[in-house]
Amino acid sequence: MRSKYSEVARSASGKFAYPTGREGALALGYDPALVDAAHPELLESFCGVGNPFSLFPIEPGSSILDVGCGAGFDLYIAGRLTGPGGKVQGVDLTEAMAARARENLQKAGIANAGVEQVGSESMPFKDNTFDVVISNGVINLSPDKETLFREINRVLKPGGRLGFADVVLEQELPQDMAGSAEAWSQ
Ligand SMILES: C[S@@+](CC[C@H](N)C(=O)[O-])C[C@H]1O[C@@H](n2cnc3c(N)ncnc32)[C@H](O)[C@@H]1O
Repeated sequence: MRSKYSEVARSASGKFAYPTGREGALALGYDPALVDAAHPELLESFCGVGNPFSLFPIEPGSSILDVGCGAGFDLYIAGRLTGPGGKVQGVDLTEAMAARARENLQKAGIANAGVEQVGSESMPFKDNTFDVVISNGVINLSPDKETLFREINRVLKPGGRLGFADVVLEQELPQDMAGSAEAWSQ
């Protein structure tokens, strides 16, 4: 997983079976004005599979956690929606992605942001910290989804909201793909 996403931290281009980068963000229905205002590095490694911001509105001033934040495109969107009175926090398993997200958010001028390099099955946050948790194309990658959902529930405030986009299997994988680390990390 770390090896694949260390490469994606340089660029997602050609590494997925679905549109990524700017083309992917526009195809998934992100606000074109926010996409156009994003600097190119924010979009270069974007490999989300949906648009978590299409599920419910973000209230200005919210504290928002992005589980598996990648290079930070969704954190940038979250930062723009929550505004200077809010806070955005990312976690990602891959050091290269976490480093890229920090650089990208700084360059985008999102001041109220933090990024931790950590697996989302054990997150370094107190109980009841966040108003909103988002995630995009990540939960399917976790080997321990039950623990991950328990962690999300723990760090969300009572009444907080989880909005995530992910891929699901509709049928059993063929035998040659079922044990493939490459297929797992898609
Ligand atoms: C398909 S990419 C999506 C990245 C980002 N959400 C986006 O939309 O561009 C999956 C990301 O999840 C991270 N990841 C995989 N397993 C993880 C885990 N157990 N905990 C935290 N991050 C994880 C990878 O390092 C990678 O950055």
